[in-house]
Amino acid sequence: EKGNYRHFMQKEIFEQPTVVAQTLGSYLHRADNSIALPQFDFDLSQIRRVTIVACGTSFYAGMVAKYWFEQFARVPVDIDVASEFRYRDPVLEEGGLALFISQSGETADTLAALRHCKENGQTIGVIVNVPTSSMAREADLLLPTHAGPEIGVASTKAFACQLAVLAALAAHMAVKKGLMSRDEEQEVVRHLLEAPACLNAALDHDDDIASMAHLIAPARDVLYLGRGPDYPMALEGALKLKEISYIHAEGYASGEMKHGPIALIDDKVPVIVLAPSGPLFEKTVSNMEEVRARGGQVVLISDADGLEQAGEGCLATIEMPKVHPLIAPLVYAVPVQLLAYHVACVKGTDVDQPRNLAKSVTVE
Ligand code: F6R
Repeated sequence: EKGNYRHFMQKEIFEQPTVVAQTLGSYLHRADNSIALPQFDFDLSQIRRVTIVACGTSFYAGMVAKYWFEQFARVPVDIDVASEFRYRDPVLEEGGLALFISQSGETADTLAALRHCKENGQTIGVIVNVPTSSMAREADLLLPTHAGPEIGVASTKAFACQLAVLAALAAHMAVKKGLMSRDEEQEVVRHLLEAPACLNAALDHDDDIASMAHLIAPARDVLYLGRGPDYPMALEGALKLKEISYIHAEGYASGEMKHGPIALIDDKVPVIVLAPSGPLFEKTVSNMEEVRARGGQVVLISDADGLEQAGEGCLATIEMPKVHPLIAPLVYAVPVQLLAYHVACVKGTDVDQPRNLAKSVTVE
């Protein structure tokens, strides 16, 4: 049931603080701020390589996780979309953990990739929202997300929960490898536990985003830019907009703009910049200036510090709470979801059942 919401997607966006808290609750011990995973019978400290495979939005969750596995657990990560991975004869060495991320647990390409990895001696980790799904049944390490049923075709709350689980897994692997001290683990847990409140603070800007949607709705093309773990969020923002509003959108790593896409910029191409303040902020601001110098219309999504430094002269700004970098991707997913949602509402498209799309893609 949709309750007071117009669409399932809207309801699911607003459920994120609750379902992320539920999901974190099953991986984090509040009593001593430690991370605990469900039972499994292999040694996480012996994992020498992580291979992440998924499709669509779930793939973008994996892209964020690559930063975390490398940063915390210092383990090399290979990541690919399932439809490419399966057929490129990937090198799968002993001691590899292959991780599959899927809301439905039934996506045909991802399932085929899982079976290929299994046949090639990989330990199989599965992050899935449907615990009875095909992928769940084949897992050595089953890490459920507790998002509840996701009805809207565009994935939102399942994605947020995937990120929560992946952060916990990457940090836990670091603990097992002896690379994260007890103090550092407690700090990671504390930051993760801040996520639900920060998601709520991000959702508080729903009205601002709704009232700027008419600025984006007439566009034919929209660009999204982000750096580091916010780069996959730029890809996710573009995917959400394409899917439900049918506006052509592309996500780029901020620094890649000048290597091509900047040629597209004129005053009719809104550029959505995701940039929490921090060490990379200055660099992103200079990319933003390159856009503005060519007449580009920037929508800056940042925190109060970032907006104060660089908000002037933007087409619009969206203020996010100031958050720890670990949870920034989770929090910055909210404004791009809401923006896609409200633009779709302005355009009057079928938000929950976009044309040509199915909730679960069970053909390769
Ligand atoms: C985008 C979206 C799709 C799915 C993709 C994978 O909003 O919903 O891109 O993320 O089809 O689906 P799952 O996660 O079920 O494997």
